[in-house]
Parts: sequence; C-alpha cells; structure tokens
Amino acid sequence: MLQFEDAVPAGAGAGLGLPSGLQAGLQHVVPDGVAHHVTRPVWPQPGALSDTGKMRRVNVADKRIINGQTDVNQLVPFKYKWAWEKYLSACANHWMPQEIQMSRDIELWKNPNGLTDDERRLVMRNLGFFVTADSLAANNIVLGTYRHITAPECRQYLLRQAFEEAIHTHAYQYIVESLGLNEGEVFNAYHEIASIRAKDEFLIPFIDTLTNPLFKTGTLEADQALLKSLIVFACLMEGLFFYVGFTQILALGRQNKMTGAAEQYQYILRDESMHCNFGIDVINTIKLENPHLWTPEFRDEIRELFKKGVELEFRYAEDTMPRGVLGLNAAMFKEYLRFIANRRAQQIGLDTLFEGATNPFPWMAEMIDLKKEKNFFETRVTEYQTGGALSWD
Ligand SMILES: [Fe+2]
Ligand SMILES: [Fe+2]
Repeated sequence: MLQFEDAVPAGAGAGLGLPSGLQAGLQHVVPDGVAHHVTRPVWPQPGALSDTGKMRRVNVADKRIINGQTDVNQLVPFKYKWAWEKYLSACANHWMPQEIQMSRDIELWKNPNGLTDDERRLVMRNLGFFVTADSLAANNIVLGTYRHITAPECRQYLLRQAFEEAIHTHAYQYIVESLGLNEGEVFNAYHEIASIRAKDEFLIPFIDTLTNPLFKTGTLEADQALLKSLIVFACLMEGLFFYVGFTQILALGRQNKMTGAAEQYQYILRDESMHCNFGIDVINTIKLENPHLWTPEFRDEIRELFKKGVELEFRYAEDTMPRGVLGLNAAMFKEYLRFIANRRAQQIGLDTLFEGATNPFPWMAEMIDLKKEKNFFETRVTEYQTGGALSWD
C-alpha cells in the first residue's frame, strides 16, 4: 500500500518520471532551446516543490490552506476532506443550460400581454447583473484565488467551481438568446445601470487584490488582504449579491411564469450555495490555522463591509422593483438581506449585525435544498452515457 509520509532519499525525484519543469533543481529548457541549470522551481506557484518540501513525501500535518510548503501536485494524502466531498457533490450535480426547455418562456415573452412592464423591467435588470457577474466570479477564481490556495483538495474544488461559473454565464446567455433580448442593453448594464455598476465597483478592488501578479501571501498584511477578499467574495458576492436576483426569478416561476429561466436559476442557486459554503469552510479553516489574522480591527472592517453590501443590494432591489411586483417589494428585501447578512456573519464567527431580522421568504430555503427527484436528473445520467459515447468520425 502506498505510504506518503516517508522521507525519500535525496535525489530520488530525478527518477520519478516528472516532466523536467516539475523537478526543482534540475535542468530547465528555455525557449531558446538551451538548457539552463536552475536551483528553484521556475514558476511562482505557492507550495510547488518548494525547497522544504521537495525531498520529502507529503505529510498531512504539514498541509495548509495558505502559505503551505507541501507539494500542490499531490492530491493525497487528504487533509481537507470537506473540500474533496464538495468536489464530488458538485460533479454529481452536473447540468447544462441547453437541456432545459425554453419554449414556454419564449411564448410568454413574445406575447404582448404575457408579462407586465414591471415584470419585464425586473427580468432585464436581473439579467443585466447576472450576465457579467459569473464572468467576474470565474476570473476571480482562475486568475486570483487559485494561485494563493496551497491545499490541492481546495484547488480541485476551485477547478470544478470555475467550470460551474462558465455554465452559469452560459445559462444567462442562453436565456438572453432564447428570448431574443437586446444583447447590447443586457450585457452593458453593468456599465450603464448605476445600481449594478455600484455592486461591481464594490467588488472589483477585492478581485484586483488577488489577481495582481505582484500580490503574494506570507505577511500579516497580505494574508489579511487575502482573507478579506475571500470573505467579500463568498459571503457578499455569492452569499448576498445573488439573492435579490434569485428570489425574483424564482418568484416568477412560482407564479408559472418564465418557468424555463426559473428552472435554470434553481440549478444555479444550488451551485452557488455550495460555492458559498465552500468559501466559508476555506475562510474558517484559514482562521483556525492563522488565528493571528482575526484581530478586532479586522473584524470591525468586515462588519462594515457587510453593512455596505446590504445597502448596495438593497439599492439594486429598489432599482429592479420601483413598485411592488409579483407580491414582492423592496422593503421585504431589506429584511431578507439583513437576515442573510446575519447568517453569513454567524457562519464566519461574527456577531449578529441586524438584531431581530427575520426571513420573509421561507420558500427560498426549499429552493436551495433542491433534490434530485426531477425527471431532468433521473434521465440525465443515461443520456450523458449514451450521448457522450466516443466517436471519431
Ligand atoms: Fe455562478
Ligand atoms: Fe459561484
């Protein structure tokens, strides 16, 4: 049976058949074709065959979520089993947008009496945020977060999450295309609609921190900046900024309107709740491994960011619903956003922000706990197995 925790004799790596670029201290061929001797790994990847880890097998006790020194290329031995389990669950929940019928939505949208003006505005502003939001999310993961996380189990989940963000962008694009919406208007809303722009402008500095090629963890200041970006992303972007939009489209679906779009949003909501929970697990594990980061000043700063996030999302709710629509109104969302913010705060160990806030939409909890009983999922596995058979024509 394989053991991963034994020391390996010096020099043993050379015989393991690793590609030349993965053997620290060996020859590295640069584009001019000349072999140069290098003494360090040639890419700026945290934990990759670092000097301290290169001659030893991976020991579970040495693994860390950030600033780890163990080999990021070795998934096992597992330390963060919750990350691996979420990766497996996410794969089991796989879906694709074009598998969902949009014909009833198209008929309704094209019928001049199918929806009210307020309902149409809600759909347009809703998509106006989402069509670019998941690209922001994907870029944040691929160009930012991934590089700074040194636990391969977490990286494995992030790879799956990045693909899910691509599926979500695909889903929104598929809805826009199916309904024949004005693409220029929808895709530019994040530049042109103030309430959408304000949400993105709030997020962008935190994304820029992680995607800046010069940003490097390992100091108190940098590690707190990373933790702050992870909190903003999981708790506010995925955990709060999506919730007005999800509730609106699912409320339409509950009234038997835009049912294809609502079904897609339901699958997206399920994916996003897992992204949010994964992010929170990462945040809490970083806190456990680096308790010095969680200072009172840092907590105060996070609480202020939460309050700002609630305010921005509330402004978006007002903008998408200037009058009551579908039995929803902006005031109900104020309460809902406070309720969600309390929940996120509690999940990362902060005190309640808004005393006494309650959930005006208890039915949303059922939507998040979507089970697999739908026909869509019962038939899907077989369809993929047959439809996905290899063909070399
Ligand atoms: Fe997403
Ligand atoms: Fe996400």
